[in-house]
Amino acid sequence: MSSHFKPPIRSDELRLLKEFISEVFGLVLDKNNDGHFTKKLLPRLESLGLATFADYYAHLKFSPRAKEELKRLISIITNNETYFFREESQLSVLADVVLPALKEKKLKSRDKKLRIVSAGCSSGEEVYTLAMLVIESGCFLWDWDIEIIGVDIDPQIIERARSGVYVGRAFQTTQPHYLERYFRKSDEGLKVKEIVTKITSFTEGNLLQMDQIIEKQTVDIIFCRNVLIYFDDESIKRGVHSFANVLRPEGHLFLGHSESLSRITSNFISVRFPGAIIYKKRD
Ligand SMILES: C[S@@+](CC[C@H](N)C(=O)[O-])C[C@H]1O[C@@H](n2cnc3c(N)ncnc32)[C@H](O)[C@@H]1O
Repeated sequence: MSSHFKPPIRSDELRLLKEFISEVFGLVLDKNNDGHFTKKLLPRLESLGLATFADYYAHLKFSPRAKEELKRLISIITNNETYFFREESQLSVLADVVLPALKEKKLKSRDKKLRIVSAGCSSGEEVYTLAMLVIESGCFLWDWDIEIIGVDIDPQIIERARSGVYVGRAFQTTQPHYLERYFRKSDEGLKVKEIVTKITSFTEGNLLQMDQIIEKQTVDIIFCRNVLIYFDDESIKRGVHSFANVLRPEGHLFLGHSESLSRITSNFISVRFPGAIIYKKRD
């Protein structure tokens, strides 16, 4: 096929593809980006030797190699923007209020396990930030079993997260203290030190089905920030239901600044702090 390969997309093909993406990943693609979306799919059609977008849709639904293609598709459509110490006011609530209270509660029940999940963790900055805050809080010492787990549906971004190497913009709001204490120089950039990586892990997975990757009722805190803005209400409901499945009773949910559950579910109650709202799973 020539490099001028450009089949036009029909409106029914576009609708089917967008419905499929919303059903499988929860993501709702903005109609202002339809042109951009179809342009990014063209190399996929060309490389698979498919003549039309309807053929591509059929490939995603029915081909024995659909699973492989879904991974390529997700890397094309996701927005992976992230950086260390994003939205500081929420992180302060975690460090100053939630972690100390959780420690006290757990000590009373002789439970020295702490599980935090970053759902939609992208290239890992949020996961490592949370790990650094847990360490700095001084609340949880060596005899605690601590795990900060990053989950993302995009396999390529999970690989980057595992490498733990960062440059430039990733550090736009990182204070020098953290750079000195938790990173070392490597050929490609700054690499996260072992004191952090030994309490973190990364898993490829869909946040709509958290209980397929994480044991039910074992998680203390979920961060899912700047992910649900790309979902419609129905997909947000599915996501929140999936979070409720893996959270412990009274577990905490942190959403992005502009994301709210008020119209969506009664499984969580909201708790207001200066500059941040967090959600608590009903007991
Ligand atoms: C904009 S990034 C947010 C990163 C980080 N949470 C933050 O706030 O900086 C959104 C991430 O959500 C991931 N994502 C989108 N839909 C997902 C799904 N259904 N399951 C898991 N991850 C998903 C994308 O692959 C992307 O890496």
